[in-house]
Amino acid sequence: MKFDKKHRPQTLNDVIFADVDVKQTLNEYANNQRDKHLLLYGPKGTGKSVSAQLVLKERMGVNWQAGLGDPWNAAAYQAKYDSFEPALKQWNLQHSMGSDMGCSVFDELDQFTLPMQHKLRAFIDQCEIGTIIATTNNLHLIDGPLKDRFRPLFVEYPSVEQWVPRVVSVMEAESIPITAAQAAGLLKGFEGSGRKLDDWMEDLVFRLKRFMTQVTTPPTQPCAQTINGSGK
Ligand SMILES: Nc1ncnc2c1ncn2[C@@H]1O[C@H](COP(=O)(O)OP(=O)(O)OP(=O)(O)O)[C@@H](O)[C@H]1O
Ligand SMILES: [Mg+2]
Repeated sequence: MKFDKKHRPQTLNDVIFADVDVKQTLNEYANNQRDKHLLLYGPKGTGKSVSAQLVLKERMGVNWQAGLGDPWNAAAYQAKYDSFEPALKQWNLQHSMGSDMGCSVFDELDQFTLPMQHKLRAFIDQCEIGTIIATTNNLHLIDGPLKDRFRPLFVEYPSVEQWVPRVVSVMEAESIPITAAQAAGLLKGFEGSGRKLDDWMEDLVFRLKRFMTQVTTPPTQPCAQTINGSGK
């Protein structure tokens, strides 16, 4: 299994947020305390898409099952559909499974053309039985009135210190227990996205496992030759 898939956050609690208010608000959405449409925006690899999916999953609670809340990519959705009927169907299905409010995830919302954004605005005004959680890197490409119908939340990169618990837990899952202080030391100078961190951790796991193999492998034939000097 690919490393990033293996270590993808499984609950909202596994996602690292730079800002405690963002974490708090997302938890309120996950607990069905808030229903206004939500727009997560920010730079690449800050955990927007994974958070949107986990909020949906946690909102569904015991009613959640695979296929009930698959996320849509806006460009792919628009290539296939020209209305929000499929989203309404998804909400109706979720209602039939016992959820009070429907919920759909749209990634890269800015990739809807302007006419499609207008359709989404009309859909939102007509249908009040569900919540949309959308993500984007390009807030400025979202039509003003559509944006106004969402609660915008800026998701930024965590600091090196904030990444430490993720590094500790991933290393533990890889059977390489390290302390928070060791993780902080290794991370010194790290810069970049959560995806970059996944790559960085995969490299670290390979390096440490190679090192551990070298120090635990018993000496083989060439050493024996040196010791007895005979070579036989
Ligand atoms: N804040 C985070 N906490 C934990 N893991 C993260 C975080 N951000 C990113 N990751 C890791 O990176 C992967 C990709 O994150 P995700 O797709 O959610 O980023 P994104 O913000 O949607 O990026 P993009 O803007 O490029 O779509 C996640 O599956 C996870 O493994
Ligand atoms: Mg994304």
